[in-house]
Amino acid sequence: MEPSTQKLIHTFGALADLGQEIAGTGDFTEMVRTSLHLLLGTLALRRGAVVDCSGAGPLRCVAVWGLGEQAVNSFDIDEGEMESFLGCEIADSLVKNSSTANRFLTRHHDKLAHEGIELVVPMIVRGEVTGLVLLGGKASGEEFSNDDFETIRAMVRHIGVGIHTHRLLEQLAQRAGENRRLYDELRAIYRDTVRAFAAAIDIKDKYTQGHSERVGKYSEIIAREMGWSEEEVEGIQIAGYLHDIGKLIVDRDIINAPYRIDAKSSSELNRHPSAGYEILAPIRHPYADIPLMAKHHHERLDGRGYPDGLTDEQIPLGAKIVSLADSFDAMTTDRPYRRRRSFEDVVQDLRENSGKQFDGKVVAAFARAILKEVRGETKDRRITKMLGKSYLEGEHVETLLTDLIADLEADSHAKAQTF
Ligand SMILES: [Fe+2]
Repeated sequence: MEPSTQKLIHTFGALADLGQEIAGTGDFTEMVRTSLHLLLGTLALRRGAVVDCSGAGPLRCVAVWGLGEQAVNSFDIDEGEMESFLGCEIADSLVKNSSTANRFLTRHHDKLAHEGIELVVPMIVRGEVTGLVLLGGKASGEEFSNDDFETIRAMVRHIGVGIHTHRLLEQLAQRAGENRRLYDELRAIYRDTVRAFAAAIDIKDKYTQGHSERVGKYSEIIAREMGWSEEEVEGIQIAGYLHDIGKLIVDRDIINAPYRIDAKSSSELNRHPSAGYEILAPIRHPYADIPLMAKHHHERLDGRGYPDGLTDEQIPLGAKIVSLADSFDAMTTDRPYRRRRSFEDVVQDLRENSGKQFDGKVVAAFARAILKEVRGETKDRRITKMLGKSYLEGEHVETLLTDLIADLEADSHAKAQTF
């Protein structure tokens, strides 16, 4: 094989390696360093550097070999000099070319020669100088041939594209980060607005202070226990906060009646889930199904709920969770016409109404979450904080919960066997 053919194959191989290096997703500086080594190795050059000049000012060394990094960084470039690289021939980039019109080379001529740099090649991508490649002479002392120039041009172009792509990706990542921040901000604003609404709903109902907020928190606890994703858990918390938003259109006297209300007032009050849906449906919520959870939080598994009399499978799981959270809070807080019920009483209610009003799986999940807290297995005692310190005290509480969970699991097991 002729030496020139051999060289061509060698160069071709180096270019392929370079392409692979640049396309790799690894470390950027490492990519440029390896590319420089490939270029120097292919032509047996003594030294070289790849510098970044995305703007005027001092050159920023990205990779260097056989030269002092500080020496490279001490060069500077201005806008005009960057432009003078555009459209110039590679021979014009030879430092020793005394007739070169390149201003950067003429201004830095002595210093470049002193550092042993013989060639300064611009990396031009999309009509802009992305950076420069500074190259020392050949180890053999030979002059650069036209073939060498071709190789240098091809490899430098490859490196330039690599750097350019890297910059674009960096800009994209930055923009994605900014978008993420904006999105997070919007979500925070949305959450604050929702909390303000919840407070507005609760203020209207003077006997159930903090009800919406507690329903939001109980719903979140149940959903998390059921293995919902963080995003879904956030969504159901919002649904809990907003489930009674329809009460904003119900007469204040009906909501605040200090006695059990009559049939007419009751049907007026029962409009609130549908009214809530009407209010929430036109809003673009960052979470799915919030209007539906508000609409169906008074449905029952046996079809005796409202507004649509849906049965078990027709009721969205989120609405079942909010429904349980809502009833649990109603049973465990004082109302004008009755004191709150004992925990034993509440557990009995949940047992009796599982499969009729409540979904047994949801009740079991809530019971497990309470049990974990009672046993001290949770980081903070959120349920205790809402119920008051003494409500879950006593050994019987743990037994009540374990029995309830066992019964519900036996039920769901028996149900699964029938199908
Ligand atoms: Fe309600």
